Amino acid sequence: MRYKKIPSPAYVLEEEKLIQNLTLLKRVQEEAGVHIICALKGFSFHHVFPLVKQYLHGATASSLHEAKLVFDKMHVKAHTYCPVYVPDEFDEIQAISSHITFNSLSQYERYKSKMKSDISYGLRVNPGYSEIETELYNPASPNSRLGIFHTHLGDTLPEGIEGLHFHALCENTSYTLERVLASFEKLYHPLIQQAKWLNFGGGHLITRKDYEPDHLIHVLKNFKQKYPTIQEIILEPGSAVGWQTGVLVSTVLDIVQNGDIPTAMLDVSFTCHMPDCLEMPYKPMVLNTVEQSAFEYNLGGMSCLAGDYMGTWFFENELKVGDVVIFDDMIHYTMVKTSTFNGINLPDIGILKTDNSYEIIQSYGYDDYKKRLS
Ligand SMILES: Cc1ncc(COP(=O)(O)O)c(C=O)c1O
Repeated sequence: MRYKKIPSPAYVLEEEKLIQNLTLLKRVQEEAGVHIICALKGFSFHHVFPLVKQYLHGATASSLHEAKLVFDKMHVKAHTYCPVYVPDEFDEIQAISSHITFNSLSQYERYKSKMKSDISYGLRVNPGYSEIETELYNPASPNSRLGIFHTHLGDTLPEGIEGLHFHALCENTSYTLERVLASFEKLYHPLIQQAKWLNFGGGHLITRKDYEPDHLIHVLKNFKQKYPTIQEIILEPGSAVGWQTGVLVSTVLDIVQNGDIPTAMLDVSFTCHMPDCLEMPYKPMVLNTVEQSAFEYNLGGMSCLAGDYMGTWFFENELKVGDVVIFDDMIHYTMVKTSTFNGINLPDIGILKTDNSYEIIQSYGYDDYKKRLS
């Protein structure tokens, strides 16, 4: 197995797979005539930002630190949207942002006097439609705090506002986008006609195998034809950039046999290193597992949290201490959400290059843990 020689534990990005994703995103960008930017909240692997910049139009930030990372590592100004701006940070955010979006009219009023001519400002609105069933990930629910409701806006864009932004998708298809757009147009038609740019948020899982990029291109072109005054349409996916681009390599440290099904205790943790598995929840793919076999295991994390385990997977062979267990698709929304709960160390961050060589980009230790506490 190609991951066998990689020191465990490690998040391993495969450069070739990332390039494949970026190539597809660039095609959509060019054929639809839109700008695709990378959402840092989902993909912050900044070592490869120079590569990402060769394909995409920049990046979107949801905090001062993300905006700084965009400026520092991608050398472009960020499209910044924060659900709420911290007063002491606003000037610094302005200095490194090309677009700034406000989440509420009160935030717009608060910062109106600071608005600058070289930044384009927008409002986030609730498009009034979404198909996300998990409440934790539904940004456009009827009670969502994210985005202004159409009933709070009149028929004219507030002074200095040039753009509208919505985010209502999560791992959705272009057919869902089509339905969101229908609702968005119905609620905000006069404002769309006045806007210079529109940002259709993230959640477009363009790089998933069953996604139909050509249908997305068709939807976007159609929309543009209806509103010729719109100068820029922006999509800001995070997941689609890092989708299926790498793995989390772990190692079996012990086998605990307390119930009917044995648990392989790993040198990683679901709660610290794969939190979405517990939050969403979802069961990750593990390489070299099969539908059925005699070798059924729970996989256990190394923290003391009782629920830090998942089950069950069937392996091709019996698991033994020292065996490598590989979690697939562990690059987006993992590294950005890790914690050092229990003092557990963070996995290395590494890259498998196109020539098959492996480079450890970052590794962590006691000092990183200590610095987060006091
Ligand atoms: C405002 C906004 N834009 C973009 C994204 C990225 O979404 P995804 O990673 O699902 O493409 C998110 C995700 O939460 C978001 O809240």
